[in-house]
Order: sequence, then structure tokens, then C-alpha cells
Amino acid sequence: MKIAFVGKGGSGKTTLSSLFIRHLAANEAPVVAVDADINQHLGAALGLAEDEAAALPALGAHLPLIKEYLRGSNPRIASADTMIKTTPPGAGSRLLRVTEDNPVYEACARTVLLDGGPVRLMATGPFTESDLGVACYHSKVGAVELCLNHLVDGPDEYVVVDMTAGSDSFASGMFTRFDVTFLVAEPTRKGVSVYRQYKEYARDFGVVLKVIGNKVQGTDDIEFLQDEVGEDLLVTVGHSDWVRAMEKGRPAAFELLEASNRLALQALQDAADDSYAHRDWDRYTEQMVHFHLRNAESWGNAKTGADLAAQIDPGFVLRESAAGGPADPEPSAAELVSPRPNPLRPAPQPA
Ligand SMILES: Nc1ncnc2c1ncn2[C@@H]1O[C@H](COP(=O)(O)OP(=O)(O)OP(=O)(O)O)[C@@H](O)[C@H]1O
Ligand SMILES: [Mg+2]
Repeated sequence: MKIAFVGKGGSGKTTLSSLFIRHLAANEAPVVAVDADINQHLGAALGLAEDEAAALPALGAHLPLIKEYLRGSNPRIASADTMIKTTPPGAGSRLLRVTEDNPVYEACARTVLLDGGPVRLMATGPFTESDLGVACYHSKVGAVELCLNHLVDGPDEYVVVDMTAGSDSFASGMFTRFDVTFLVAEPTRKGVSVYRQYKEYARDFGVVLKVIGNKVQGTDDIEFLQDEVGEDLLVTVGHSDWVRAMEKGRPAAFELLEASNRLALQALQDAADDSYAHRDWDRYTEQMVHFHLRNAESWGNAKTGADLAAQIDPGFVLRESAAGGPADPEPSAAELVSPRPNPLRPAPQPA
């Protein structure tokens, strides 16, 4: 299942996503963790040293490889250049699985060993001042959206994305790509205003939004959140000495995390599992088509000079069984970035 953590800057998105990832790993669940936040801190929160975190490959830097791999032999996608972040998979596309090895993971993911076991970590790469609001920033988050739309996840597999609640995820279809979105909110007016904005956007798309109250200090804080977000409040988390010790560079074993916080993390997992059980794969695919058409019209057609609506395969539905073995020989990451045209795949002939 696919899970997002969003919220106001500093609310605790990275902290709670990293704890959740540790919790899943401790439960021996396969996990792909994705750092799509403006502030790239997930690697560090998962215990990577500064130089290790800085050495993580950037998804945004491997967009050509990602596109070339995912398009596979899909005849509706003439070239990787015409693939935009919302281009949906169709017959011939290659799909990603959580547990497999593939050239995208080879180039963009690193394995992080946690107490419970290994998880795969991918990162969009740092956002510079000049990225914000321009195409480069969109393409970094766009790489994540492209991967999510091509990722077939099973019921016991988890993809956890730490991301901003910014307008970028609403302009694309990114905010609809998750079985559950955990909105981390401190018990403050600003914290819940991000919730209201998200809720408003999400309303028409069946987005499952659950609030995690963070840095909650007492009953007054809990009552405030209950009043403001009502039934959407899933759990609250207080100050964690375990987290603080880690921040001091003195990490403790995960099994020593406070019992109340472990219970909260289990509640998150239960909510995600429950939501996945109700996943409507048809609707999931329809929404990618919806956002692709919107993006094609508003900028994609003009940018690529192609009619991107033609990329849609009307008969295709992303579903678990869609991820059969690939029909083509598996290229390596190196072959995917070799000079075009790709010798593995002759250009499709016009009908
Ligand atoms: N429950 C908690 N107990 C103790 N410290 C916490 C808790 N939640 C968050 N923090 C601390 O608060 C700070 C901000 O948290 P974090 O970096 O997770 O927020 P964020 O929402 O990811 O921020 P950004 O928007 O900068 O990415 C960190 O120093 C973190 O250790
Ligand atoms: Mg963060």
C-alpha cells in the first residue's frame, strides 16, 4: 500500500514517517521509503550518517532512465521525451514491484539497515532555492509520481512517502496516489489550517485523510485537535525521549521506543491496511488518466509538441495481476542511459 505523510513545516512529518518505517521493518514488512520533502531529512532520521545521506542518489537526476525503463515497449509512448510525470502505464509498460530488483532501484534506491531489517530508501534529491516554483522542482516530485503510478503494491508491502503539503502535489495528481494520507498536525491553529486546506482539495477525490496529532502535551491539546478535526483524528503522539536521544546522536534500539508511541504506530499500520483493503484499482487508474489529461492540456502538449491524450490506454487498469513478468529482456541501468535510439526497442511503426 502507498502511504503519505504531509503537514506543516516542522510538524514532525519526517520524524513520524521514520518511526513508522522502523515499525514496519520491525514487523518484517517490505518497505520502500521515499523522501519527497523539500527538506531532505528522511535518510538522517533513519540513522544514516551525514555523508551517507548526502550520497543518496537523487531520483530527479535519473528521470531519463526512469522514463525509459517504465515506458518499456508501450507503443503509445513514442519516446521517453514525451513522457511527463502523469503519463499513465498501459500495455507494454514496465511496472515496479516493492520487493523486486530493477534498474530504477539499482540507480535510485539504497538499502538502509534498520533494527528490524532492511528497507529501500529513495530520495528526490535536495531542493535548492532556485528549484522552488520552477520546472526543476516539479520534475523532482514528478519522478515520484511516475513511479507511484507504475508501482503495483501488494497488501503486505508498504511504500511510505515523506512529502510537503504544498500546492505542487495538488497541481499534479500526487495527492490522490495514496491509500491513506497521514497529516501530521501540532495542536495549533497553523497546524490544523494545513489540514483544512488539504481536506478541501482532497474532498472530491476520495482521499483518505487521517490526522496524527504530534507534540501533544495534555488533555487540552487533545481536546483542541478533537474540536478542530473531529473524526479525522487518528492518534496523538507526545514528546518522545527516544526521538530526542536520536537527535542528540545517541540512538537507542527501536524496541525501546515508548510503549504509547508503539501503539500509535500500530494504529497507523492498521489504518493503512484497512484503507488498502478498500482500494479501488479502477478508480486509481481513472484518476491517473484524469490528472494526465489535465496536465497534458495545461502544459504537457505544448511542452512536448505531442498529443499526450494519445498515451492513454483505455483498456489498461493497474492492478496486482498487471505485474506479470516483463515481456522484454531486462535492460541494465547502464543500457537505459545509452545513446538513443535504444537498440533494445525498435521504434514502433505507425499503424
Ligand atoms: N514526537 C516528538 N518527540 C520529540 N521530538 C519531536 C517529535 N516530533 C518531532 N520532533 C522534533 O521536531 C523537529 C521537527 O520534526 P521533523 O523534522 O520531523 O518535522 P518535519 O515536518 O519533517 O519538518 P520539515 O518541514 O522541516 O521537513 C525535529 O527536531 C524532531 O526531532
Ligand atoms: Mg521533514
